[in-house]
Amino acid sequence: MSTQAAAKSPAKKTGGLAGVVAGQTAISAAGGAHNLEYRGYSIYDLAEQAEFEEIAYLLLYGRLPTLRELKHYKNNLKNQRDLPAALKEILERIPSDSHPMDVMRTITSFLGHLEPESKEHDQIAVANRLLALYPSALLYWWHFAHNGGLRINPVTDAEGIADHFLTLLHGRQPSALHRKAMNVSLILYAEHEFNASTFAARVIASTLSDFYSAVTGAIGALRGPLHGGANEAAMELISRFKTPGEAVSGVKSMMAQKQLIMGFGHRVYTEADPRNIVIKSWSKKLSEEAGSLALYNVSEAIEKLMWDEKKLFPNLDFYSASTYHLMGVPTSLFTPVFVMSRITGWAAHIFEQRANNKLIRPSADYTGPEKREFISVEKR
Ligand SMILES: CC(C)(COP(=O)(O)OP(=O)(O)OC[C@H]1O[C@@H](n2cnc3c(N)ncnc32)[C@H](O)[C@@H]1OP(=O)(O)O)[C@@H](O)C(=O)NCCC(=O)NCCS
Repeated sequence: MSTQAAAKSPAKKTGGLAGVVAGQTAISAAGGAHNLEYRGYSIYDLAEQAEFEEIAYLLLYGRLPTLRELKHYKNNLKNQRDLPAALKEILERIPSDSHPMDVMRTITSFLGHLEPESKEHDQIAVANRLLALYPSALLYWWHFAHNGGLRINPVTDAEGIADHFLTLLHGRQPSALHRKAMNVSLILYAEHEFNASTFAARVIASTLSDFYSAVTGAIGALRGPLHGGANEAAMELISRFKTPGEAVSGVKSMMAQKQLIMGFGHRVYTEADPRNIVIKSWSKKLSEEAGSLALYNVSEAIEKLMWDEKKLFPNLDFYSASTYHLMGVPTSLFTPVFVMSRITGWAAHIFEQRANNKLIRPSADYTGPEKREFISVEKR
């Protein structure tokens, strides 16, 4: 295709489906006057006042739980943390240098063999089981692979998912501040309209495939650095610099080479990512608690430079990096933590897609050769 043809092509104009409304949803609204709302509730109110399980309930059941319902729900999740023996066996066979996102994909896919979706184990039961089991399964593998074959007990008494995860990771209960920071982070990552992984899940669900297939596909989409993988890439970036000055000159030279600065920019927001405003304040709190603002100051210097030079703002992934790092979460577990939360948003979208299904199958603008004659292999 010629350059001219490419410039005129409608496909070029809508590259990556930017600005294309690809369907309807009642689950969340992102961008514009809504800023970010989950089922009509502002992300700021939810992050400040709710706990993650309330948000999971809101997304999966369509409304906020009462105190009694929340208690019951948390207990229900707590009782589903243990791992089937066959899953432990599989986790022990995964190479220790595997990326933890590949482990999340395998956990999901393998659980689909052991506990397939059925009338008895319906979509909401599968969603809750994955939500309850992900931290246990991920950290069972992590300790086995990285601590000389250590087989941890994947069940804890922790009340919620945030403290269950941190307790299993560190082998001790988290501080109240870390528990709250992880809760806030899980709330911020829970749902975000038609992002790439959610859309992938909806496309798979629209073929009437099963729940596990839709989530496995979504994990694959989330893994890339243009999407969920950006939080790991952002950590890799900020940890390169010791001082704000070093960060400014380092990022300037990256920009001169037209490199992408991970954790900046967004398809939907134009001036700021509301989730970043929240997580940035937590990054600062944790830095102050740790008595070192080094990473935070490096991050802020990059933020200022990106805005001054390119009018680009940090997205949720940028300050999530220092927040997780300050809680002692290894960098390669950042995107799996995103999965532990986003399973709720994916599930809500799979339910919504199924409730009013129509196969998602867009058309393409053909740009290949004109019709031509087939020449048999002997004559070519
Ligand atoms: C999120 C993202 C994929 C959105 O992409 P998009 O809507 O397609 O926007 P574009 O890639 O068309 O960007 C528009 C311009 O800003 C630039 N830009 C966007 N994000 C940038 C970044 N993080 N670093 C440097 N330049 C960036 C692009 O290079 C492009 O410049 P150009 O017009 O000179 O070619 C993009 O901002 C990005 O790659 N960010 C880094 C990865 C990331 O943080 N992902 C997590 C998203 S929550």
